[in-house]
Amino acid sequence: MLVLGIETSCDETAAAVVRDGCEIVSSVIASQIKTHERFGGVVPELASREHLDKIVPIAEEALTRANVTREELDGIAVTIGPGLIGSLLVGVSYAKAMAYALNKPLVGVNHIEGHIYSVCFENPPVEHPALALIVSGGHTNLFFVPQPGKYKVVGRTRDDAAGEAFDKVAKLLGLGYPGGPIIEKLAREGNSRAVRFAIPRMGDHRPDFSFSGLKTAVQKYVRESGLQPVSNVEPPSSGIKDLAASFQATVVRSLVITTEKVAAKYHPKTLIVAGGVACNGALREASREAAARLGVPVYFPSPHLSTDNAAMIAAAGTVKLRAGERSSWDLNADVMLRLQNIDVEDAELRKHVRYRL
Ligand code: KG4
Ligand code: ZN
Repeated sequence: MLVLGIETSCDETAAAVVRDGCEIVSSVIASQIKTHERFGGVVPELASREHLDKIVPIAEEALTRANVTREELDGIAVTIGPGLIGSLLVGVSYAKAMAYALNKPLVGVNHIEGHIYSVCFENPPVEHPALALIVSGGHTNLFFVPQPGKYKVVGRTRDDAAGEAFDKVAKLLGLGYPGGPIIEKLAREGNSRAVRFAIPRMGDHRPDFSFSGLKTAVQKYVRESGLQPVSNVEPPSSGIKDLAASFQATVVRSLVITTEKVAAKYHPKTLIVAGGVACNGALREASREAAARLGVPVYFPSPHLSTDNAAMIAAAGTVKLRAGERSSWDLNADVMLRLQNIDVEDAELRKHVRYRL
């Protein structure tokens, strides 16, 4: 079964051809980092314009590299949310038009579900129940997955996403965008015990995350210690490297301690760690150690599948198409699309805490 995946939810225009949901025949990703780096973050209007310029050549490139004609495709899968509305609409409109013109099955995919499926290419099959930590620029969630396609959110961030924290801290230290890879590189040369940051604990003991306080603590440390943010002319000081290492270690500890706690309760057979932040070597190492303590395997996507890509969307879409799921021609983008279809507790949670649900 050959499925074309289309992904344009944020700042990557991506297309991929995937065979039988587990073999990448081609995967093309056009990153917009160059466009957005001078602003220190993604500018939505610029992102959608660039998607518009790139969607046709990128999709054609994916088909050419796969040596597959449009007619040979068995279906088209496209990200419908969550993400930036202008960006999502480019992919959704393109995929709908193509599916309509070719009379091929079309299926909309939740971007976060795509990240969960990103581990299916280079790992043994996921055994269920599974526990998935999805850590990206926009999301930090722990999903309990009792069987394929069933999701319960068991942990979530109460404020910033983990990747967002990396990006914001990098910005305030005068480092570039995206912050995660830059902080990771500096952290390798720094002392992670140099600055002590507390791991936020939830008053109600829920297995949630919070990163905005940590960002404020880094800001306060910079102000009080007189540490100079990095300028273009000078290489980062050892103080900046120590701070980067200490910040990264705190984020990693917070993610892993909570995941381990939840795993001990839910007894998953597989741990999944995916999303842009899953590129982080320190997070991978700490997750492996936690998985070893729990006695379960942990699967990561390879780094090029950790950040946004269309292969993961095609993989998730293949499962849906195989199950007979079809999107109709009124398929639309949904900026706030959630991934949760069992034991939804949102209404209950909103009574107690201000979540960014
Ligand atoms: O999954 P992704 O490409 O896009 C979203 O869906 O958000 O994730 C991008 C995020 C950015 O915040 C970036 O700083 C972070 O992933 N990231 C990293 C690393 N590489 C990317 N964070 C920590 N360490 C890394 N090596
Ligand atoms: Zn993503």
